[in-house]
Amino acid sequence: MDQRIVIVGFMGCGKTTAAKALAALLGCGLVDLDAIVSAQENLSVPELINERGESGFRDAETAALQVVLDRQTPRIIAVGGGAWTLERNRDLINQHGCLTVWLDAPYDLCWQRITTHPRPLALDQTSAHELYQERHRLYALANIRVGVTDKMSADDLAAGIAEAIARRTTPSD
Ligand code: S3P
Repeated sequence: MDQRIVIVGFMGCGKTTAAKALAALLGCGLVDLDAIVSAQENLSVPELINERGESGFRDAETAALQVVLDRQTPRIIAVGGGAWTLERNRDLINQHGCLTVWLDAPYDLCWQRITTHPRPLALDQTSAHELYQERHRLYALANIRVGVTDKMSADDLAAGIAEAIARRTTPSD
């Protein structure tokens, strides 16, 4: 089986959109971890965070991640913006031999998208910016970094990711 690809990055960086376009480009399956968490718990992500707090949500997220990784199903896994920031989740992803891709989008672009699709853990511009800065060094632990700009379409992003993966797996030396 081809190595699985986990897409990480801050809220609004375009993980789900990029994952869908990449799945179409590579002709493979895709799973969105937030959708799995939501289906497993029978609550939306905002409802989960509201009812159980962030730590309750994180427990459900790690449990869902474990199930997805153990099942060896879809090749592409898009995870919520906080998943990769927890060491226990990074360990799980690395232990399962996945390739991690960080979509590195500028904060202003993320925030602009967050304002159109609000997230419970990014309620105001200042605290969201602090979270963005805190998480930067953790996203940088991913295997591959792909820079994102507001000019890039979903297909551009998918092509950029596929090229970065190909460069990594077939070094030119
Ligand atoms: C979160 C990101 C969200 C979702 C939850 C927490 C985070 O996913 O998992 O609201 O902590 O960054 P997206 O990154 O897809 O918005």
